[in-house]
Amino acid sequence: MVAGAPPTDGPADNLKRLMAIRLGSPTSPAIGSIGFEWPRPHLMEIGYWLAESARGCGLMPRIVEHIALPYAARVPECARVQISCFTFNKASARVAVKAGLGYEGVLRNWHMPHGVPTDAAMYSWIPPHARRD
Ligand SMILES: CC(C)(COP(=O)(O)OP(=O)(O)OC[C@H]1O[C@@H](n2cnc3c(N)ncnc32)[C@H](O)[C@@H]1OP(=O)(O)O)[C@@H](O)C(=O)NCCC(=O)NCCS
Repeated sequence: MVAGAPPTDGPADNLKRLMAIRLGSPTSPAIGSIGFEWPRPHLMEIGYWLAESARGCGLMPRIVEHIALPYAARVPECARVQISCFTFNKASARVAVKAGLGYEGVLRNWHMPHGVPTDAAMYSWIPPHARRD
């Protein structure tokens, strides 16, 4: 489903990784991408995008659940995974929920697309090794 294995190196401040999503074989055309950013060594942020023709089949929730979260769970320093989406981006919010992240609330003016302050809905997942409850 995704060309190549998820990264195995540990996080570093501001490390960013972008992976192409391909169906069938590693040489198939990319139909989307998923990115992992480490703004701080304990915090992984996920971003994603799919071509319109690939949307609505439940692909991205499965990629997040079965590739992104297990990757984070293998990184000892990782204490939190988060997805922040525009509050009006219902499809992205559904990805977070279906993948198993929990809703935390609205961060006002969290994003600044094209200079316009925009609210974000925040979702998070705590790797098993970092849970305190
Ligand atoms: C967000 C995105 C990755 C969702 O991935 P996906 O694999 O299509 O996700 P799903 O198939 O699980 O659909 C998620 C929701 O999208 C909506 N949806 C359903 N069919 C759809 C379609 N054909 N086109 C767009 N959205 C659709 C539904 O609300 C669905 O939720 P539901 O399953 O509860 O009905 C994809 O819509 C996308 O690439 N959007 C543009 C980029 C973007 O917004 N990225 C996120 C930035 S934070």
